[in-house]
Amino acid sequence: MITTVTLNASIDKAYYMESSIENGTVMRVKAVHNSAGGKGLNVARAVHLCGEEVLATGLVGGYNGKYLEALLDKDGVSHDFVHIQGETRSCINILDEAYGSTEYLEPGCLVTGWEIQQFLKQFPEIIKESSVVTMSGSVPAGVGKEIYKELTDMVKTAGKQVILDTSGELLKQGIESCPTVVKPNQEELEMLFHTKIRGREDVIERAKEIREKGIPYVIVSLGGEGALMACREGVFQAVPPGIEAVNTVGCGDSMVGAVAAALHRGWEPEKMLRYAVAVASANALSPNTGDFDPAVSERLFGQVECRRIC
Ligand SMILES: Nc1ncnc2c1ncn2[C@@H]1O[C@H](COP(=O)(O)OP(=O)(O)OP(=O)(O)O)[C@@H](O)[C@H]1O
Ligand SMILES: [Mg+2]
Repeated sequence: MITTVTLNASIDKAYYMESSIENGTVMRVKAVHNSAGGKGLNVARAVHLCGEEVLATGLVGGYNGKYLEALLDKDGVSHDFVHIQGETRSCINILDEAYGSTEYLEPGCLVTGWEIQQFLKQFPEIIKESSVVTMSGSVPAGVGKEIYKELTDMVKTAGKQVILDTSGELLKQGIESCPTVVKPNQEELEMLFHTKIRGREDVIERAKEIREKGIPYVIVSLGGEGALMACREGVFQAVPPGIEAVNTVGCGDSMVGAVAAALHRGWEPEKMLRYAVAVASANALSPNTGDFDPAVSERLFGQVECRRIC
């Protein structure tokens, strides 16, 4: 089994617009798609679609929390959340022809020290049956920036593998506990090193630098160009075939889901990266986040070009 951690969950509302956005006017929404959101829940759906058993955990609260759990039930994703007093937030993604995607992210409610302590207390029991734990995204107000560092230590103490996909200070501190995998995108890598990344050589150098801190797999995702991975066996590059992307939000989350499935299956690094890029690119072909057609990812799996480059 694979556990996904989502501390800043949300009801994600995708608004498909009848016409392009005009600010300061009344806009009609053609169709709405509500999903259990927060990056970790995109990962959970991806793991489920990869065909592995998944348990989603994290913090949810209020009526939105209950709705979120009902949405996960519909997706076939098992869950075991710690319930908080505050109301789970909603996030809106407006999809129109002119701007593509415009996201409004609510800040979320304040989590109390007692609530986070409850989560930490229950965490070892929640992850008991899992071989891999993924931790994704931002954290709500009231939760300290050392949380992923602390959770990584707990997962490793339990003898399990851990994937960390976050940014800024959360990533910086999380890296100190050496998760099994980190998956920054280029922007997150730049934030981590406080520098502009120019070209593939820069990415390789920085990925190696992180690996040398004791992180077995450093995967840098590069949007439509695919991904690079630094690990003990060398540096690998995987490039997807050219596709007509429909919605690339959550591609990185699907990639994390696929990496979790590959680690759980004990796949070798090259196969893991090729699979991760195939699943993530399949997500780009679906209008929904953390969603793909397994037949499409299977086809792409055979088309992704993956090789060791140094
Ligand atoms: N336009 C695209 N065409 C094909 N594949 C894509 C495209 N965009 C993303 N992907 C696939 O998804 C992977 C992850 O994408 P990206 O680097 O955008 O992640 P991200 O920025 O972490 O995304 P998010 O945080 O929204 O989930 C890429 O490595 C690639 O395999
Ligand atoms: Mg990402």
